[in-house]
This record gives sequence, structure tokens and C-alpha cells, in this order.
Amino acid sequence: MKILPGPASRELGEELAEILEVETVQVFFKIFPDGESYIRFNAESLGDEDIVIVQTTSPPQDQRLVQLLLMADNALHMKAKSITAVVPYFAYSRQDRCFLPGEAFSVRTVVKLLENCGVNRIVTLNAHSPKVLETFKIPVDDVSAIPLLAKYFKSEGLVDPVSISLGKKGLSMAREADKILKGGFDYISTRRDVVTGNVSLEEKSLSIEQRDAVIFDDVISSGGTMAKAVELAKKQGARKVYAACVHPLLIGDAQKRILQSGAEAVIGTDSVPSSLGKASIAPLIARILAQ
Ligand code: R5P
Repeated sequence: MKILPGPASRELGEELAEILEVETVQVFFKIFPDGESYIRFNAESLGDEDIVIVQTTSPPQDQRLVQLLLMADNALHMKAKSITAVVPYFAYSRQDRCFLPGEAFSVRTVVKLLENCGVNRIVTLNAHSPKVLETFKIPVDDVSAIPLLAKYFKSEGLVDPVSISLGKKGLSMAREADKILKGGFDYISTRRDVVTGNVSLEEKSLSIEQRDAVIFDDVISSGGTMAKAVELAKKQGARKVYAACVHPLLIGDAQKRILQSGAEAVIGTDSVPSSLGKASIAPLIARILAQ
């Protein structure tokens, strides 16, 4: 096995290679003045090697996605034996069906592109809709980083902690966290208006008075959903509220918005480059690659 650390996930790629004790192939890249990406591998052939390309696709997602496609197709052309794409944050996975007639089914398009560029396997973290990914031809390993976040909170010594996830479908995240935090779990339903994109939260009564609450989501983008959830938890008398997510995209002033709504801290993993990164995903991904 050889690892190719893509321009968006250099550190993670290097860490994986170190843990797995395998070589890396250096990837040179540049962006031309018109915005196009250029990729070159420091190799003449990848003949007969299992290649693992590591590239997250957080914003600028289109650029990072094209770089991933260029790397995969180049590896295919350079005779890689197999190509695994480790894509911790999988761009476009939130458009996992046609919500309105005539809409593009974006995640399907992205998977098709990867497949056409020779990717045999995808490894990702907390995909927005794991069930949708399972319907594609190409195998997808969807790994959960929630236990890493929960372990972080356990080490912080929270008082009578309760794990809460956003969206009923996300209840599994709170359940997973609770296996470590052991204070009970619940969820807050969310509803996104398919036209405006605005999210509203169910006004639900939670058993959180005078307790520390950790609210889990797969991704924090604008921070709007999480900020509303934190407000709800504070209104219901939670002692301290923490915002946790696997993919801290934190667009614009998202972090500030969540802190202003009453959160003690916003905690994420290093699935995407951010100043948060409290939990390292490298050992988790290494375990999957070693299987
Ligand atoms: C939605 O289904 C996701 O799980 C997140 O709740 C959502 O993407 C967060 O977006 P934002 O931070 O922009 O509210």
C-alpha cells in the first residue's frame, strides 16, 4: 500500500502513512491564475500498488473535488492496482435525493465521477445519508467519529452529561456517544424548508435541567442549526452546553454565532482543516485501511 496525501489533507495522509508504516507518494499541486488545479505525483509508475488517496472535500469543495478526480484518474493511468479514496468530509452528500422535481441528485453525480476515475472504494466519516451511499455500486465504508468526540468530552469531566443529536435520523449519534458518556440521550427534530433552506427545530422538552449537554451533529456549516439547538438547551436550564460535530466547516461567523447562543465551546474532529480539531481521526481511518 502507498498513500497519496492530497493537497487538502496533507497532514492526515502523512499521519496515516506513519501509523500504517507505509510509504507516501508526494503530490505536487498548484492553482493556475484562472483557478484550475494542476497535479503531479513524484513517481513514474504506481504499478501493482494499492493506492490510498487522502483528500477531504470541504470548501472550496469544487476545487478539492476536481483535485481528487485528477489524482484518481492519474493513479489509474499510472497503473495502480486498486484505488481507495479516503474522503473524510464528502462534499455534496447533503443533496442525497431530489427534494424538488428537477433537482440534481448531486451525491450520485460525485460518486459516478469517482467511479469513472477508477476509485474502487471510498472511506468516509459520518456520511450525511449512509443508506444512500449503500445504494451505489462502489463500496463505501462509512465510519463514525462520534466515539472520538465523546471520549474527548469524557476526559473533560462533564457534570451529569446528556448526549443530544440533531434530527431524529441522527439519534444514532447520541446513542453512540451515550455508550461513552453514559448519562442518557435524546434528539431534537429538525426540519429544513426545501425551498428557502431555513431550518426549524421542534420545540421539545428535554431532560437537561442543571446538567451538561453535548449536542452532536454530523456537520456544522453556517452554524444556524446548532445555534438554535444550543439556545433551546440553555432555555431549558442546561448547566453548560457544548456543540460537537464531526465536520466543522464553520462557514463565516458560524463559530461566533454558536458561542453567542450560549455554547461553552464548539468541538470537532480534524476531518477538515479548522482551528478546532480536538479529535484526531487518523487512528480510526488507519484501522479501517488495515483491515
Ligand atoms: C443537516 O441535515 C445536517 O445534519 C446539519 O444539521 C446541517 O447541515 C447544518 O447546517 P447549518 O450549520 O448551515 O445549519
